[in-house]
Amino acid sequence: MKRKVEVLPDQAALIERSLQLTVDKIKAAINERGLCTIALSGGSTPKPLYEAIAAQQLAWDKIHVFWGDERYVPPDHPDSNQLMARRAWLDSVNIPEANIHPIPTDEADPAVAARKYEEHLTQFFQTQAGFPALDLILLGIGDDGHTASLFPHTEALKVRDQLITVGNKDGQPRITFTAPLINNARCVMFIVAGDNKRAALAEIFAPVADDFTYPSRLIQPEGELWWLLDQAAGQDLKLKAE
Ligand code: 6PG
Repeated sequence: MKRKVEVLPDQAALIERSLQLTVDKIKAAINERGLCTIALSGGSTPKPLYEAIAAQQLAWDKIHVFWGDERYVPPDHPDSNQLMARRAWLDSVNIPEANIHPIPTDEADPAVAARKYEEHLTQFFQTQAGFPALDLILLGIGDDGHTASLFPHTEALKVRDQLITVGNKDGQPRITFTAPLINNARCVMFIVAGDNKRAALAEIFAPVADDFTYPSRLIQPEGELWWLLDQAAGQDLKLKAE
């Protein structure tokens, strides 16, 4: 694993840098393998990134979009991560609908939806055994140290043999990539803004701390790991950046 940490002066610079890296990764994947597979995060931080990606000229038909986690709501619900990404990015570019791979949320039992999405990934990536390697997984963190929908002290953190599982946000189900699926990516990029993330970041970057209390610590990918932070989030880490 190669961890790279960058603290950008403000949110605009954070989005600019994450845009540059995302576009580079998309183009490199298309050049090398003929397509790019990218998983999106929810939350408020990446919205301006998605809007900026939409303004790029990219080979949209070669980009396949997945989600690293989803709230268990219909796709037209204001909390839907899918809806946010469609409005900010996907609705305004010429990407084939077949290249958009939303997490299903229409099963009565979220565990069934998780299995369906896992099967979809297994078929798409042709990985009947083992874990697929996505080209790029975008992630955020919460001020409690969660990432994707891997929340502190939840069962989802223990899952090692599945790609997708059911997360638990204060008793509400969510569907989420598991840590081993995230860790199998070619590149993982955390994009973090705001000083409410400082305390969690200190624990996530500490040499020793509890992974079950700060789930973002579980993310130690095979490939590249980027931590892009704005100054408000990363001010305490600046000197320790590698
Ligand atoms: C989600 C996420 C989640 C998010 C963080 C950060 O669906 O909520 O994917 O992990 O990235 O909670 O959210 P903010 O960007 O709003 O701080």
